Order: sequence, then structure tokens, then C-alpha cells
Amino acid sequence: MDSYDMSLAAAPDREPARQQYFMKRLREVVVKKSREYGRPLTACIKTFGCQMNAKDSEKLLGILLRAGFTASEDEASDFVLYNTCTVRDNANQRVYGRLGYLNRLKQKNPEMTIALCGCMMQEPSVVEKIKRSYRFVDLIFGTHNIFRLAELLFLCYEKKGMVVDIWDGTDQIVENLPASRKYPFKSGVNIMYGCNNFCSYCIVPYVRGRERSREPEDILAEIRALAEDGVVEVMLLGQNVNSYGKTLDVPMTFAELLRQVAEIQGLERIRFMTSHPKDLSDELIEVMGDCPKICRHLHLPLQSGSSRILKKMNRVYDKEQYLKLAAKIQKEIPDLSLTTDIIVGFPGETEEDFEETLDVVRRVRFDSAFTFIYSKRTGTPAAAMEDQVPDEVVKPRFDRLLKEVQQISSQVCGKDVGKTMTALVEGMDTHDPSLVTGRLSNNIMVHFPGDASDIGKLIPVMLTESKGFYYMGKKLP
Ligand code: 5AD
Ligand code: SF4
Repeated sequence: MDSYDMSLAAAPDREPARQQYFMKRLREVVVKKSREYGRPLTACIKTFGCQMNAKDSEKLLGILLRAGFTASEDEASDFVLYNTCTVRDNANQRVYGRLGYLNRLKQKNPEMTIALCGCMMQEPSVVEKIKRSYRFVDLIFGTHNIFRLAELLFLCYEKKGMVVDIWDGTDQIVENLPASRKYPFKSGVNIMYGCNNFCSYCIVPYVRGRERSREPEDILAEIRALAEDGVVEVMLLGQNVNSYGKTLDVPMTFAELLRQVAEIQGLERIRFMTSHPKDLSDELIEVMGDCPKICRHLHLPLQSGSSRILKKMNRVYDKEQYLKLAAKIQKEIPDLSLTTDIIVGFPGETEEDFEETLDVVRRVRFDSAFTFIYSKRTGTPAAAMEDQVPDEVVKPRFDRLLKEVQQISSQVCGKDVGKTMTALVEGMDTHDPSLVTGRLSNNIMVHFPGDASDIGKLIPVMLTESKGFYYMGKKLP
């Protein structure tokens, strides 16, 4: 038995005890190496993609810090981990591009350990390509087993050769491992994992697995602990938060969860992401209206304004239903900011279909919209559809949509000039050191004179000028 096999034999079977054990063993390796090098061992995590990945990266960093690494932003580190995204092909291309750079860094420092994890790694073709053409990568794992980082990295250090651990799926939710929060005053909180919607263009259900809700007691306990630790704003995270709780042993609605979260002392603001229009209940609109702690922002992905395309996308609502829902929300909560995601160039999209999307954009007047060119994802139903739209047709449509969205959003966003609103200060302004940057309840940013002592505080700010997508402001005397 070598030392790794002995460590393995002594490891507890149950989680999270097993990972606690491996964090200690990894720490021994890290301490030994830093003695050898005469300096601390550094670890750098680069995150691609969405808020879910950002949250996962905080957990990954928490494990690395517990294991004795020093965090670094610099990829010239002893351990580099890319937490990848695969929602659109350009996310994949960015990772491949940066891997070339990592290879050059590793040639200078052969002791460097390179790891890849996240959504892209759940695609077998990606893992094959890395095994074949990126031999310098030391460790690959997926989305279902990020909690095992300590064990996998320990294995990597003890055994030579590439370590690959990808799970097809999981029904496990492993809690109570360390996490390192990027901000002391705000935090993401997972309320559910995975997605069961299978929108026909989307790869997420394949790489993030089936929908699993966390128990409400676990979520509430985590948020209470965060609030005690100084967190004033939480973002409840899930691919489709509106279907939260449906599969729990004792089912609970998302609206009910929100009511309970809102009762937590010390917590001032609650956000959530992402909502699917098909599951958005009247109960949710009601609780948003009732509860001032719930931020005045709703991200409600439209994807397309054409009922024909929505059907092909498997979105389970049509144009009229979306318009009705948006109107109801805007009527019930007039100060709410409504944002969306739109895909241009889905297979079979005609000029008429695209006009329908523009029509919804003009009628709803979104505060802002993320616009995407349709990206073919291998294995999704849409990738096999025959009538893929050529680039030269999609690009001009995308430009037209972007122009429309930006024009409307600059008009809508400017409407609050002269009002006083509360901003949570997130940091110093990156361009002007005399200013700080805060986020309003409606998710719009405001820049105003202040200093580092304002960071993390909720401050009333008079909005003096609109800059299109953000405001300039001043503190009240
Ligand atoms: N192509 C383009 N955009 C996509 N999205 C998801 N899958 C694709 C795809 N294949 C967009 C959707 C979703 C957002 C997170 O990414 O608009 O809401
Ligand atoms: Fe993808 Fe649709 Fe699930 Fe969102 S709801 S993650 S777009 S399948």
C-alpha cells in the first residue's frame, strides 16, 4: 500500500466527514510543499459563466483556503482551477484559448497543477479533447462533485498522471463545507440545483442534472448565519427558482420560502435568479408586493416573442401569455425593474418571428435585456433541427434587437432622476477614486461621492443624473 492507498483506507465513507478528512490530508501536503519552496502555495480560480458558477467558485476557494493555500488572482500560481461554462460555444472557446496560456506558464513552472471543472467538463466530447490535446491538465471534475475538490487534489498530488472524475448525475446535496465569500456584505445562496425544463436549445439540464431543492431549514439556517456574519443582501440561486420546493418530501412554494427568508433579522435585501415565466405564480407577485425586503427586480427570460418559436423552444408559454404576465407584474409592482434574456436566430426563425420579438420588446419596455445569438449545443434537440439560420441573417437581426433594447433601456432607466433611493455600496468606483458604486433595489448601479468606509452600507442617495444604464448621485446631507 502506498501512502495514498493508506489515506484512502482511513477515510470516512460519509460526507461531509470524508472531505473534512481530505482537507486535513491535503493541508499536510500543502504545508510540506511550502516548506520546500520556502513560500506559501498559491491558488487561483477563474470563473466563467453565471452566478451559479460564481457561487461554486466560492465553495471551491473555501476548500483550498482550509487546505492551506493562499488565494491569488494571478494565473501564475501553484494551483490554477478554471470553473467553466458551456451555455454557448463562445464560453468553450474562451477556455480553450486560455489553456494555451496556462501551458506556457506550466512550462516555466513544471510544479504547477492545472485543473478544470464545471459545466463544460460534463460534456464527454470536451473531456476526450482535453485528454487528447491538452495533456498538461492534471485534474478534471464536473458539476456534481465539486465538494470533492480536497480529495481529488490530494489524489492528484499523490499519484502521477491526469485525474478525471466526472459524475453523470447525483441526488446528493453535500452541505457544511467551507466557503470563501467574495463580498462580506452580500452572498449568493443556492436554493436548488439542476433544471428539468429541457428548453430545446439549452445544455444546462444535461450538464447540471435534474432539479433538486434544498430543504428550507438548511437554506434558512445558512442565511441566518450569513446575516449574523454581516451579510445584508442575499441572492437566492436556482436555474428555475419558481419551481422551488415541488419535489421536497414536504412541498413548499418559492413564495413561501421568500416569506420565511424575509423574516430573518439583520437581512435587508433579498434577490433571486432565475424565474421561468411558466411557473411564476400570483402568490409570488403578491409576496413581492407585500415585502419591502424583496428587491424591486425580476429577471424573466423571454427568449423569443414568437409563439411558434417558443413552442419549438419548449418554453411552455406563448407571446400573449408572456405579455399578460409582464403587464400584470408591472401593474402590481410599478417600481419593479423587469429584465430579460432573448435569443436571436433559433432554428427556423423567420423575419416575421423576429418582428414578434421586437414587438414584445417594444410593448414590455424592459429595463434591460441580455441578447444572445443562438449557439448550437451538441446533444440538444435544437441542434438537430434542420432549418438552422445562417450567420449573415442572424447578425443584422441581433444588431437591430440590440439597438432597440438599448434605446428603450436608456429611456426606462432614466425615469427615476430626482428621486432618493437606497443603494448598497459594493465598492470604490473603478475609474474615479472619489466615488463609490452602489446597487439600487431595482439592480441599477449608482455612482456617488464617498469613501471606503461606505462599502457594505445601505445609503440613501439622490439620483442626480442618468447615464443611460446607470445613475450619478449624491448622498443626502
Ligand atoms: N444559445 C444562445 N443562448 C442560449 N442561452 C441558453 N442556451 C443558449 C443557446 N444554446 C441563453 C438563454 C438563457 C441564458 C442564460 O442563456 O437566453 O436564458
Ligand atoms: Fe436552460 Fe430552460 Fe433550464 Fe433555463 S429553464 S436552464 S434556459 S433548460
